[in-house]
Amino acid sequence: MSAPAVQAQGVTRVYRRSDGDVHALAGVDLTIAMGETVAITGPSGCGKSTLLSLIAGLDRPSDGHLDVLGRTLEQLSEDELADLRRHHMGFVFQNYHLIPTLTVCENVMLPLIPQMGQSLELKAKALHCIERVGLERRINHIPGELSGGEQQRVGLARALVTEPTLILADEPTGNLDADSADSILELLFRVAGDRQRTLILTTHDRNVAGRCGREIRFLNGAIAP
Ligand SMILES: Nc1ncnc2c1ncn2[C@@H]1O[C@H](COP(=O)(O)OP(=O)(O)OP(=O)(O)O)[C@@H](O)[C@H]1O
Ligand SMILES: [Mg+2]
Repeated sequence: MSAPAVQAQGVTRVYRRSDGDVHALAGVDLTIAMGETVAITGPSGCGKSTLLSLIAGLDRPSDGHLDVLGRTLEQLSEDELADLRRHHMGFVFQNYHLIPTLTVCENVMLPLIPQMGQSLELKAKALHCIERVGLERRINHIPGELSGGEQQRVGLARALVTEPTLILADEPTGNLDADSADSILELLFRVAGDRQRTLILTTHDRNVAGRCGREIRFLNGAIAP
């Protein structure tokens, strides 16, 4: 049997502040198998984004163990974490996080530049992903010239360009109207479905959660009883 995509044991994240500690996650245990599609849900402030950042290695737990794609994250240096992310993970942000001065094509190419430089092959890969999200007529636009739904499609193309095993999406449809949200979800589930990719998303939307294979509900930094 292959290793789980994610295994968390006692994962805790405390933000230390002069005016008091914030316990964002308090001893979370969970296992997500390869190929699963999972929705992390729960009220605002319950720790969903914190969990996703820890899984992506963008942040470190204060305590506990986290294995992701067969690697024990606390044993990895920042460079090794960046490598793991670059080669195996794609992250989709609620607020798109596109670089405003770069074109659609350049934004999508970014994750591959450290590996491939500015090669023609790189551009071909980016264009393929841009076509996949239906933005081939917008490749030279900058983000400010796109609608919210279009910007999120660029965000998705950028997350997919490395062909990640694990896709992490933090409220990927949070800022979108119903039609744009539907088209993003269609794409997300389609790419998760092929090649058995693992998809972990956070959402406040019951409909989105219902489309995932499993829902894990959080409350106050822990899995809800
Ligand atoms: N950098 C930080 N410093 C201090 N506290 C923080 C920090 N980041 C998050 N928190 C706190 O940690 C808790 C969990 O935050 P998190 O962003 O994970 O919640 P969330 O479930 O994603 O909420 P939402 O649904 O609103 O996105 C919140 O109480 C938040 O105020
Ligand atoms: Mg959040």
